[in-house]
This record gives sequence, structure tokens and C-alpha cells, in this order.
Amino acid sequence: MNILIVLAHPEPQSFNHALTAAASDVVKARDDEIRVSDLYALGFTPDEHSRHFRQRANPDLFDVQTEQRFNAAKASLAPDVRQQIENLLWADIVILQFPLWWFGMPAILKGWMDRVFVYGELYSGSRRFHTGVCRGRRAVLSVTLGSDVEACGYNGQEGDTRLILWPANYALHYLGFTVLEPRIVAGVRGGYSNEEAPSRRRFLDETIRDHRRWIGGLDEAATLAFNAPDDWDERRRLKPGAPVYHPFIRHRAEQSG
Ligand SMILES: Cc1cc2nc3c(=O)[nH]c(=O)nc-3n(C[C@H](O)[C@H](O)[C@H](O)COP(=O)(O)O)c2cc1C
Repeated sequence: MNILIVLAHPEPQSFNHALTAAASDVVKARDDEIRVSDLYALGFTPDEHSRHFRQRANPDLFDVQTEQRFNAAKASLAPDVRQQIENLLWADIVILQFPLWWFGMPAILKGWMDRVFVYGELYSGSRRFHTGVCRGRRAVLSVTLGSDVEACGYNGQEGDTRLILWPANYALHYLGFTVLEPRIVAGVRGGYSNEEAPSRRRFLDETIRDHRRWIGGLDEAATLAFNAPDDWDERRRLKPGAPVYHPFIRHRAEQSG
């Protein structure tokens, strides 16, 4: 099995790097293949911009999807993007490893999505969701949070992390991935003092043990449910009676709740 970890963290001594190293050890020990795209180490440029496109379908107006599709067809995508796509299509399982920053993913990872999920290459109007290019592959978010478990639950002051992660999970579903339940590690506070260092070390050790178990059990991991093709009407709205898997897509009666 081929596993790709896309890592978005600037500090090699961080929790996120430690989790990535632990995951790599487990994968290597069972003779699976692993690649790590360490976006900061690669100096990955996250801003989608006209300068990345060697050829232009329209030199007078920079329409991102037009230029992505044109350059994909001409095999002239930027080399860093081409490499990331190659990694994605190599992998059976893609793990996005990142800290929650301002209730979302770090900008470098969001920009990785903007640039690497290329229109015409990884999705199109006819190739998305259940007909997506990445059908048959699995993807999962592995996220660390500063807030405590209670504060990021369904009624927590930090907002429900599982809702916060919905857009990223839906983007993966859009490409056709089978999306696994996210791995959420809460209570990884930054700004700790020297006195707190030993307890942080203990927490890191425990978390790494859990993480190794999680990686080892990925084959049995639960998947997220999304609506099926038949659940949509001709205007691409949820049909009455279709199941609701998430508050982001719901029947009107549930809006007032
Ligand atoms: C810019 C920034 C924004 C952050 N925003 C959040 C947040 O919205 N919610 C949260 O729980 N923690 C937040 N944190 C805390 C980080 O998620 C936490 O420090 C990190 O997950 C710890 O892992 P690390 O050691 O790998 O950095 C933020 C930290 C930074 C630096």
C-alpha cells in the first residue's frame, strides 16, 4: 500500500512533525511505501497566480480554472504542482497532517489545494464526487488543536471541530476520495513554559502511541457518509426524504434548529 502524508507545519520539533515521523515508522515497519510532502521544507508556494502558468489560454484575463485546464492539457503545469499530483495519484491513502490555525487549515495547505487540485486534471464537471478522478483512493485529515477536548465538541466554545473540518473533507469527497473519519488530537497547546515541558513530553508520548495504533488500523477506519447521486434533484438540491449526513446540506425544517 502507498501512503502519502502532506505535512503543513513550519517547525521540525512540532507535534505535527512528531506525528508524521511516528506514522512513517509504522508504515515502513510493515513494508508499505510512504512519501511525505513536507510543504514548508519544499518551500511550496501556496498562492495561485498567473506567474505559475507557462502558457496562457487567455493572456488578457487570468481565469484560474481556464488556465489550469489549458496547462493540464498542454502538459505545462508548474513542476511543483505536477510533482504533487503525481504523489496524489501514486497514493492509496492520503493523510493531510496539520495544526488547526484560526479555525481552518494553515494557508500553505489551503494554497496546496488551490494549486494542486487542478481543474481538468483532478476534477471536471463530469468527473467529481462519485465519478471523481480519485475514486478508489482514501483520504483523511489528521489535525492537532490547541483547544481542549471539551471546548471543541458539539457544544464547545471553540466550535465543533468536526463541523470546522467539513469543507476540507468535502473537497476530498469532491475529488472522489473515500474520506475517513478525521483524526483529531486536542489539547496540544503552544506557548508552554519550561516547567510544563515534562508533562508536554508525556502527552506527546501518549499521543504518539495512539497515533501509531491509528495508522496501524487505517484499513478498518470508519468512513464519512455523503449523499449519493440519487439524492439530488435536477437542480442539484437535496430531494425530499433524502438522508442528511451533515448540517451543511440539510432539509429546510432543520434550518431553525
Ligand atoms: C496562527 C495560529 C492559529 C491557531 N488557531 C487555533 C484555532 O483556531 N483553534 C485551536 O484549537 N488552536 C489553534 N491554534 C493552536 C494550534 O492548533 C496548536 O498550537 C497546534 O495544534 C500544536 O501543534 P504543533 O506543536 O504541531 O504546532 C493556533 C495556533 C496558531 C499558531
